[in-house]
Amino acid sequence: MVNKMVNPTNEFFTVKKAAKFLGVSTSTIYRAEEKGLLKAIKTPGGQRRFERTELENYKKESKNIKAPQTPSANLKQTQFEQLELIDDEPKEIIEQTIESGSIEEVEENSNGTYDPRNKLNNLTGKEWLPETKSFWFQKGLGSKHPHAQIEKQHPAPFSFQDVGRLISFFTKEGDKVLDPFVGVGSTLKACALLNREGTGIELSPKWSALAKQRLEFEVGKGTSEHHTIITGDSRIELKNFDDNTFDFIVTSPPYWAILNKKADHKVKKERVENNLATNYSEDDRDLGNIQNYDEFLEILVEDIFLECGRLLKPNKYMSIIVSDFRHKSEFISFHSDLIQHLNKRRIDNDYILTLQGVKALIQNHKPLLPYGYPFAYVENIHHQHILIFRKTKLKRKN
Ligand SMILES: C[S@@+](CC[C@H](N)C(=O)[O-])C[C@H]1O[C@@H](n2cnc3c(N)ncnc32)[C@H](O)[C@@H]1O
Repeated sequence: MVNKMVNPTNEFFTVKKAAKFLGVSTSTIYRAEEKGLLKAIKTPGGQRRFERTELENYKKESKNIKAPQTPSANLKQTQFEQLELIDDEPKEIIEQTIESGSIEEVEENSNGTYDPRNKLNNLTGKEWLPETKSFWFQKGLGSKHPHAQIEKQHPAPFSFQDVGRLISFFTKEGDKVLDPFVGVGSTLKACALLNREGTGIELSPKWSALAKQRLEFEVGKGTSEHHTIITGDSRIELKNFDDNTFDFIVTSPPYWAILNKKADHKVKKERVENNLATNYSEDDRDLGNIQNYDEFLEILVEDIFLECGRLLKPNKYMSIIVSDFRHKSEFISFHSDLIQHLNKRRIDNDYILTLQGVKALIQNHKPLLPYGYPFAYVENIHHQHILIFRKTKLKRKN
């Protein structure tokens, strides 16, 4: 099943992007909305979005909006805001609005300044910095939330909020994002909420159908038409894309065959008793059903991640979210095995994948279990690793 995206007439802009598009400040956008000059649409999360046609009409009709003057170097942001006056408004009213400000306006301004040299994302400097920390705390909706019910059916989803943070950092609005193991579509949901164009590949028709359902139910009717969901084997489907197609690739692969081991107490209680799936599928093409770890690793690296590297645009990033795990009594450091096999690997004559960082995604909510007590150290694995690779140009020795 393939749902092709892109309806160019229906492009949506955030407040910041609308401001940039019109060449005004975000405060002007809020004021224009308050006065009914601009109409915003609200996302399910309550954020404003403006349609391109709405902005274009506003641009045509509001010839009397003065463009901001060039501020002197030491002019503060608030003074700069006051230069943008709508001519037919009494000045006092506008200044009063600026002084008191709405909560959103204060938050928007306190988010810092966007640097026009920033080619990577839509973040201001102040928003950028915390995202570079080498750890994040995992965020989720909580299992009782109505929008967690589809996600719960899958045995190993990641949180759309965590993947949304990565997407916000590594892309701009409108960019193309790929997830080659899309499961129930957490990446696509984050793309939809953030105005990015998502493509997901999923082997199991059951999970890909739920991914579509999730977009329609949790984001909004018609959302799935703007993203692409391919039901198939990524080893084959990735070959159908041209080189340099995507701005960002983010995924969480199967962690070898760990879901096929005998259900422990926790799995029995949380999944078997609630009639929830404990593995992805019985399909032989499912990478989670490969018996041998080395064979699994080789397929994952050679057929999936290096192929993903080919699809990534030059200088763009790929994030892989994985956890280490135990197999019988052996601790398998899956994340370091992946790094060893993938780092500095050639994609073609000109590019290689280089590791840029390893972020720990802390799962502080997980209950501590007394695995080895009182005999041996057996770790409670309460974090995942986000491996961040970049497609970088090969330096040639002369
Ligand atoms: C860790 S899960 C991804 C979950 C996803 N991040 C989410 O939030 O729903 C890995 C997924 O890879 C899928 N998968 C396994 N082998 C595959 C293959 N050869 N091609 C495509 N998908 C595959 C599984 O069915 C499973 O849904």
